[in-house]
Amino acid sequence: MFAQLLPEPVRLAKAAPWMWETPALPAEEAHILRAVPKRQREYRAGRHCARQVLAQLGQNGFALCPGKGREPLWPAGIVGSITHSHEACYVAATHHGGVIGIGIDLERRTDTDTDIERLICTPTERAWLEAQQPEPLRRQELMRLMFSAKECIHKVYYPLNAYTLDFLDAEIDLSVTTGQFSGRILNPAAVEAYPLRQVQGQLTWDEEFLYTVIVLHR
Ligand SMILES: CC(C)(COP(=O)(O)OP(=O)(O)OC[C@H]1O[C@@H](n2cnc3c(N)ncnc32)[C@H](O)[C@@H]1OP(=O)(O)O)[C@@H](O)C(=O)NCCC(=O)NCCS
Repeated sequence: MFAQLLPEPVRLAKAAPWMWETPALPAEEAHILRAVPKRQREYRAGRHCARQVLAQLGQNGFALCPGKGREPLWPAGIVGSITHSHEACYVAATHHGGVIGIGIDLERRTDTDTDIERLICTPTERAWLEAQQPEPLRRQELMRLMFSAKECIHKVYYPLNAYTLDFLDAEIDLSVTTGQFSGRILNPAAVEAYPLRQVQGQLTWDEEFLYTVIVLHR
């Protein structure tokens, strides 16, 4: 489903089963030595999968280490994003140029975390959720789409500005009819290397997952 949301220059790969089981490069493994097995599996899947995408972009054998904010430190000239959820992991990347940021996010439709709505959604977003019909997505699923869209914003905003926005620092306006969303940054960082107030994204879903994407053009 991600493939249909991403423009042509962006390369995409889904992690194969062996990627979850196989240790990553030593420099990458150094960051998960004490992590629990679930975390080691998803991290390894992301690293192997990223290497597959990077090879398509002409970068072979690159060790993709995390930065201070857990952001993947892509090779110079490349931007990308990783997402994992349960047994699915995807990586999208492209050459830095027209595209200056990518955020992809995957969420399970069925996870039941009803209590997080107040932490994730602004009053305006909650009023919107309240007014929606339960078709084609239920309130809980729409809320998870907002959550996912906000994680995409984080994956684009942080690498540009080295700043972590709170979930209530951005407001999402989404449409399941058009498959589009926009995100308004309400409380940006005090100092921004790359000022960003509004981003556009795309969304879709299948029987199991919700998918959101932001590809930020220069
Ligand atoms: C970091 C976070 C986005 C990851 O959540 P998750 O449930 O593990 O979700 P995903 O699997 O989809 O994404 C994880 C991947 O995101 C990427 N990522 C994590 N932090 C990142 C950052 N600061 N910048 C860019 N990408 C980042 C990493 O590649 C990570 O996988 P890895 O650690 O194996 O490399 C989330 O947990 C978080 O901390 N969010 C708080 C900030 C936020 O989202 N604010 C909302 C702003 S409106």
